[in-house]
Amino acid sequence: MTSSASLSSSNRFSRISIIGAGHIGSTLAQILLEKSIADVVLLDIISGWPQGLALDLIEAMAVYRNDRQILGTNDYADTADSDIVVITAGQPRTPGMSRDDLLKINSKTVVDVAKAAIAHSPNAIFIVVTNPLDVMTYLVWETLGVPPERVIGMAGILDAARFQAFIAIELGISVADINALVLGSHGDLMIPLPRYSTINGIPITEIMDQNIISKIVERTRNGGAEIVQLIKTGSAYYAPAASISVMVESILKNQNRLLPCSAYLHQKYGLDKIFLGVPCWLGSQGVREVLEIDLTDAEQAQLINCEQKVRQNIKRAKEMLAM
Ligand code: APR
Repeated sequence: MTSSASLSSSNRFSRISIIGAGHIGSTLAQILLEKSIADVVLLDIISGWPQGLALDLIEAMAVYRNDRQILGTNDYADTADSDIVVITAGQPRTPGMSRDDLLKINSKTVVDVAKAAIAHSPNAIFIVVTNPLDVMTYLVWETLGVPPERVIGMAGILDAARFQAFIAIELGISVADINALVLGSHGDLMIPLPRYSTINGIPITEIMDQNIISKIVERTRNGGAEIVQLIKTGSAYYAPAASISVMVESILKNQNRLLPCSAYLHQKYGLDKIFLGVPCWLGSQGVREVLEIDLTDAEQAQLINCEQKVRQNIKRAKEMLAM
């Protein structure tokens, strides 16, 4: 629990600030507290909203007899000395909108948020969630001026989880045995990789019909839009929040898990100075290393396609920011 004034600095536990206390931010706060992964500062632009959610979560933790702390605030001073800052501030998609439609609205938001947050947590690792993801991650990195390993976008874990869920549903088997891999940009051009997707080590290409795999790949690409179409007033949040929590845990516990994330590429996959979804090890310093895996010519061409789209949108975003 916490007082409403600030998080206790005695008995300091890992501290995560979540900027944007909307669907994803508030769900993430709940997961981090329930699993005792970190104390949480929940910040939003709307006055009273994060404070109310924090109070509700304090009361929920009292039900569980859980002493993790949470503070709701509109003041960045309360986020001071965060180990990790998660940026979920911005607008989600509504039906018919692509993630790129969010470009203009969300670019300014993430730049403002990044500036305000780093001023109080100069050593934090930043996890970016706001869409269009790879573009926003780049803008945050450029705004912060920190080493690129400290800025990571959340996408690949979510996309791979969708792929895994659809394989499990199709085969009627446990999702526990399935490992899928999705690279590239978080959007229609994402690259689900069936030959790197396995059921206990056996590639799904040896188990499933190619037609079925193609359908699942397509459903994975549209996984976010499928949910937007159903919810109508917003986008997915349970699976995104769960995916962020896995990244947070790997960083705070220095687990060095190999997770697909939007990471900075420096002479990797033949690319430079861009954020794209690739497998990387996440530990206490953020991205410990990006893993380069073998891609076929067709897969490499798809990755370059993603890169070009992301670069184009970074340029557009910068032009809009300059206006
Ligand atoms: N500073 C702080 N909070 C902000 C700001 C800002 N400048 N601008 C908006 N917010 C807050 C909103 O008040 C809202 O509470 O961000 C929150 C966003 O929450 P939701 O609208 O519920 O959106 P959510 O579903 O959580 O998605 C957030 O993540 O996956 C992406 O596409 C998604 O870009 C969207 C983001």
